[in-house]
Amino acid sequence: MGLDATGSGTGPVTVRRGVPAGAERRAAELYWDAFGRKLGPALNPPGKAVPFLAAHLNADRAVCALLDGQLVGLAGYQHDGRGLTGGSARSVLRAYGPLRGPYRLLLLALFERRPAPGQLVMDGIAVDPGMRGRGVGSLLLEEVAAVAAEQDCREIRLDVIDTNPRARALYERRGFTAVRTEHTPYLRGLFGFGAVTTMHRRVGTEGGEEL
Ligand SMILES: CC(C)(COP(=O)(O)OP(=O)(O)OC[C@H]1O[C@@H](n2cnc3c(N)ncnc32)[C@H](O)[C@@H]1OP(=O)(O)O)[C@@H](O)C(=O)NCCC(=O)NCCS
Repeated sequence: MGLDATGSGTGPVTVRRGVPAGAERRAAELYWDAFGRKLGPALNPPGKAVPFLAAHLNADRAVCALLDGQLVGLAGYQHDGRGLTGGSARSVLRAYGPLRGPYRLLLLALFERRPAPGQLVMDGIAVDPGMRGRGVGSLLLEEVAAVAAEQDCREIRLDVIDTNPRARALYERRGFTAVRTEHTPYLRGLFGFGAVTTMHRRVGTEGGEEL
């Protein structure tokens, strides 16, 4: 299946590896816009969270979509123990203080995912709200698949929450299948979701079709 994405009356969307220098803040804003509800209990208020994310972003752990030189989407992934969102325990404690920091570290630990051998784990995908539904997310997923193939991974893994059925539908269209669902009703009040589904896609397939 061919993929492209266009802006409204502007140039085409291009995809590149890495967050461009100077776009870290924009990347953090897009990430927060997409995941602020989920990460809020750990990183709120937004005025602190966005600069924290921007300052600790691992720019080489993302594929990015640009329109007219502006960042309009990104997808993060883990490799060699580093994901898109960095920041040591010490940096969390420094930013949020010794009293509130440890609780926040505990919450962040709930979202940690360790790749199994041969797996590339995705670390979140976010597209500018004004650019959604135009194929940008699909372009980013295929670029992540290219990264996985180059790193000799045999599968890509991601997690999707039960309150995001449209994202799940997109992943299914792009060849991901659900492998398990963890029900966490006790987290619904805090994070806004009550189940997380893990999905896999075999590397070497596009949108579910063998290449
Ligand atoms: C999910 C997301 C990355 C998809 O990017 P995109 O550029 O809109 O994706 P595409 O244009 O390639 O595909 C569109 C499909 O994405 C899905 N989608 C999910 N949320 C969407 C939204 N708010 N607007 C449009 N499409 C959305 C739908 O399946 C849509 O197809 P549909 O119009 O038939 O329902 C984007 O909507 C986004 O950033 N959402 C918020 C963050 C998020 O949910 N991330 C995923 C967490 S697991």
